[in-house]
Amino acid sequence: MLKLPALVDVHVHVREPGQTHKEDWDSVTQAALAGGIATILAMPNTQPPVFDGATLDLALNAAKEKARCDYAQFVGAGPTNASVVAALAPKAAGLKMYLDSTFGELRLDDMTLWTPHFQQFPKSAPMVMHAESRTLAAAILFSAMYDRPIHIAHVSLREEILLVKAAKERGLKVTCEVCPHHLFLTKSETPSGFAEVRPRLATQADVDSLWANLDVIDCFATDHAPHTRAEKEAQNPPPGFPGLETILPLLLTAASEGRITIEQIVEKMRVNPQRIFNLPEQPKTWIEIDENVQYEIRAAESFTRCGWTPFEGWRVKGKVRKVVLRGKTAFEDGQILAQAGSGRNVRLDYPQLEASPHILG
Ligand code: NCD
Ligand code: ZN
Repeated sequence: MLKLPALVDVHVHVREPGQTHKEDWDSVTQAALAGGIATILAMPNTQPPVFDGATLDLALNAAKEKARCDYAQFVGAGPTNASVVAALAPKAAGLKMYLDSTFGELRLDDMTLWTPHFQQFPKSAPMVMHAESRTLAAAILFSAMYDRPIHIAHVSLREEILLVKAAKERGLKVTCEVCPHHLFLTKSETPSGFAEVRPRLATQADVDSLWANLDVIDCFATDHAPHTRAEKEAQNPPPGFPGLETILPLLLTAASEGRITIEQIVEKMRVNPQRIFNLPEQPKTWIEIDENVQYEIRAAESFTRCGWTPFEGWRVKGKVRKVVLRGKTAFEDGQILAQAGSGRNVRLDYPQLEASPHILG
């Protein structure tokens, strides 16, 4: 039995408000707990998107009522809301900037629209970028010009991880995350709706470069982006994979094969997320894992509402047996025990953290 700190997923699409047929604050936090994750940071590309005080309250009210694990909600950078979201920073996980196109309508096409956010969003609050390939280079330039930390979501390409490495070596304030699907899957020969995800699945050379640069990767995050089976099978399927319940078993399996250590998993799913995103300690909180149990991943046995997984049938080694959150057993032997509404907002419901120096890149 392996006892670890409860994990954090800094990149989750909850889908509430607006698309609760895909997922909601209840189902997503059940999936998180089943995956050994006791804190999720929720992305703002909901319907409506979270980009002002009223829409943030919509999301936070749903979370308060339904969440079974701890959480915070990102606000989204829009073309005209820089001062509004800057004022909301204390209540939010951070600011999410969509600089490349993806699911939802939050893309900032023009670099002049980035400037007010870099000028106004508090430097002590996390700023996360969806920035692929050359857009990533532009985001790093903005970080350098405005001398503020940025966190790069879902790095997937060799050219990207090498750029982040070089930026860190120059002392720039850049951190990054990598998703399990970019570590374990390559672009398939026969693309189908189920392979659609942003950033796209890449080549074996890209995957190899991520594994070869584990020390450059600050966080593993799922980018849990549930869409239903029917939606994935239809014309123009929306991009996105579920991931909350599979990330840890996949990583534990890699650990059992000697590709990564348990310490690296904890560093990238607890220690670094806590530091980069200024998260509180959760007292009396841990997870217990049966390291030797082997099983096959089955969407039918999962808590996410989306009903499928890109890892269906994969044989993994290592199962989450128990999650204890703030002294209470929240998950045990496949059963969710935490009540809806027992999750806490890590920005609002914990005693304030001492102002801590964050991101060092
Ligand atoms: C995400 C979604 O569905 O919300 N999709 C995805 O393919 N990752 C959007 C995103 O994270 O960019
Ligand atoms: Zn995402």
